[in-house]
Amino acid sequence: MEDLFGGAAPYYARYRPGYGQAAMEHLAETFGEDSRVLDLGCGPGTIAIPLARRVRAVLAVDPAREMLAEGRRLAEGVANIAWLQGDSTVLRRLPPFEHVVMGRSFHWMDRGSVLAELDELLPAGGAVALVGPARQRGEPWQPDAQPWQPVERRVCEEFGLDIRTAADSFHATGEHHHDVLAASPFCRVESRVFSRRLVWDVDGLVGLQLSYSYSSPARLGDRLPAFVETLRRALLADNPAGRWEQELVSEVLVARRR
Ligand SMILES: C[S@@+](CC[C@H](N)C(=O)[O-])C[C@H]1O[C@@H](n2cnc3c(N)ncnc32)[C@H](O)[C@@H]1O
Repeated sequence: MEDLFGGAAPYYARYRPGYGQAAMEHLAETFGEDSRVLDLGCGPGTIAIPLARRVRAVLAVDPAREMLAEGRRLAEGVANIAWLQGDSTVLRRLPPFEHVVMGRSFHWMDRGSVLAELDELLPAGGAVALVGPARQRGEPWQPDAQPWQPVERRVCEEFGLDIRTAADSFHATGEHHHDVLAASPFCRVESRVFSRRLVWDVDGLVGLQLSYSYSSPARLGDRLPAFVETLRRALLADNPAGRWEQELVSEVLVARRR
């Protein structure tokens, strides 16, 4: 578990886009300013850090020491975040919290068990919020949706890296988070979608690629420099202007009990 994103944390912190201010506002309003929120699978604090300005306290929990170290570094001076090493199997051992947020992390977990356990731990009115890329229910996942992704995929395949090897329950079962929530005690689900325009350069796309678990620096080992060079060349051969645009659409699912 610890090595899932081996060596990726600095790339994650620098190159993985967050969800934007409007999405953070929505979370803050959902939880309320006096709340204590668990950010489970917090990574380098993508949600924990902006959210901490708007709530009483954030418990930022992740199994990866490297992610927590990046988070602590980025959050220097933010006093109301507690960074703890742990995962979705240690929820009972954590200090009390009233709401939970999971950003791009729920798919790594045994989703049904986590929700059943949260049902025992969260007070009445406690919300579970899931944040991540917007995906239509019932539609197959599209690995090549962005213009640069076929190139990245080709290079990854050349290096024996397969996005589908990631232990991702969404891909494995096809069951959308929304449906998992709807079948759980947190069955009252509301969805909000937030859009942003991003512009990438080649360094950004290479850094983004190194932030993924299936192509992390640890997975590449001593092939890392060759991978970076090959990917950079392939991207620029495909698009010599070196500028890529993306409409990043994120979804926030807020789920409550009946
Ligand atoms: C893609 S990152 C998401 C980071 C951040 N929350 C965000 O929104 O960008 C997924 C994180 O989930 C963590 N993770 C993986 N399995 C987990 C589990 N079972 N329980 C909690 N966190 C887990 C990983 O270590 C990683 O930092």
